[in-house]
Amino acid sequence: MIDRRAMPYAVDAALRAVAIVPLRLGEPIEGPQVWTVAAEPPPHAMAKVLGMAPALQAALNCGPVRIHQVGRWIAIEVPRDDRRSVALGKMRADGLAVQIGVEPTGRRVTVDLGQPATAHALVAGQTGSGKSVALRALVWGLAQAPDEVELVLTDTDADTWRPFEQAAALRHAVVTDAGQADAALAAVVTEMELRLAAGGFDRHIVVAIDEVQTIGVGGRDAILQIATRGRKAGCHVVVATQYVRSDVLDRRLTDQLGARVLGRMQDGAAGYWAGSSAVSTLMGQGDVLVSLAGVEARCQVAWAPEGDRAWSRVPEAHHGIPAAPARIEEGVPAGPQQRSDDHEAIVWAMASGDEPGQAASATSIRQEFGVGTDRARRIRDDAQAALDMQTRATGATSLLRVSDHPRWAEITQMSRAVGG
Ligand SMILES: Nc1ncnc2c1ncn2[C@@H]1O[C@H](COP(=O)(O)OP(=O)(O)OP(=O)(O)O)[C@@H](O)[C@H]1O
Ligand SMILES: [Mg+2]
Repeated sequence: MIDRRAMPYAVDAALRAVAIVPLRLGEPIEGPQVWTVAAEPPPHAMAKVLGMAPALQAALNCGPVRIHQVGRWIAIEVPRDDRRSVALGKMRADGLAVQIGVEPTGRRVTVDLGQPATAHALVAGQTGSGKSVALRALVWGLAQAPDEVELVLTDTDADTWRPFEQAAALRHAVVTDAGQADAALAAVVTEMELRLAAGGFDRHIVVAIDEVQTIGVGGRDAILQIATRGRKAGCHVVVATQYVRSDVLDRRLTDQLGARVLGRMQDGAAGYWAGSSAVSTLMGQGDVLVSLAGVEARCQVAWAPEGDRAWSRVPEAHHGIPAAPARIEEGVPAGPQQRSDDHEAIVWAMASGDEPGQAASATSIRQEFGVGTDRARRIRDDAQAALDMQTRATGATSLLRVSDHPRWAEITQMSRAVGG
């Protein structure tokens, strides 16, 4: 084991053994998973020094060494054999901005889903890299603001979300079944459409999905829709998977996931993203690269054992948590076409009245959609009921909260028909 005082000498000696050039070395900085030593190589030797990691690792007889450039300097990161974990309870959260861990320099790493470039997130890495722990760290922060954030949590494989089962921020019970996940995602897409039509929203909705490869085609399409159009409606997705392949993660989806937590991965998978090849030198168990709108930082993700006091910071629901939506059976045919047309018309009518809070008239619905008088009236009534409910729920006409609509289940099914 290399101790603090011996560190620069050990690195210096190793560099001399393998290297070619004299280096000015800085004081070593103690991070949770690595020691970082800054070094200033002569400019002409920069490329050579950057390529020395494997030789340095052999000379120091340690785990994977990472060397990267920071301006004129290089940072040499040497794994500690006495790694420390980072206490989740020390992290802070403010609405959608959540500290999820610390850099080797001790600086906190904040993921902010409220920023346009990082509205949606990906957590990737091989088994044991710490994906589920990272998801929990992020959601732990979000769950502390139930007035601002509503959570939809799904995990069809393990029990990632156990600490959140009573969280006040839950939109409904944790989803553990793929069919249910499809229904929950379809409902979020519907709410997103309604919010986009109304041009406003009350709380953000964050859908966090562990093992996203277990989600069916319908659900994945919904995820793509939310990632593409959700931001303006306050709808966000956070997905985790170890399968970093284009058949699991559609490029159109990954393009939208501006916040990335990349755990240890094999080189092949790492190649999926240009610029993140260093992930194969990570040590696993929460040693990650966090990439925020393209800016990368190494990070040790915060963690708390089960039963830790940190978990009591998640506010619990006083009343029961609504059941998760009923599962959508694979292969059930979409509803009659007429219904999906109605859904579109209801959303349109909500947004197209003469006054705020007032649905469009049956006449204009008839003209817009070419439907008969009775159907136009029904559409108008549904749109008006949804608008009235928003007003009651929020006291404001521009804000939406429509999931208690008497025909909510049906509208959700309709959106499924539209999307499906
Ligand atoms: N940030 C962390 N701090 C401390 N320990 C961690 C951290 N992340 C992961 N670990 C340890 O590694 C184990 C595996 O982590 P985790 O379950 O998050 O991996 P995973 O990537 O989700 O794996 P899988 O793909 O198998 O689900 C944890 O049970 C924990 O013991
Ligand atoms: Mg996991």
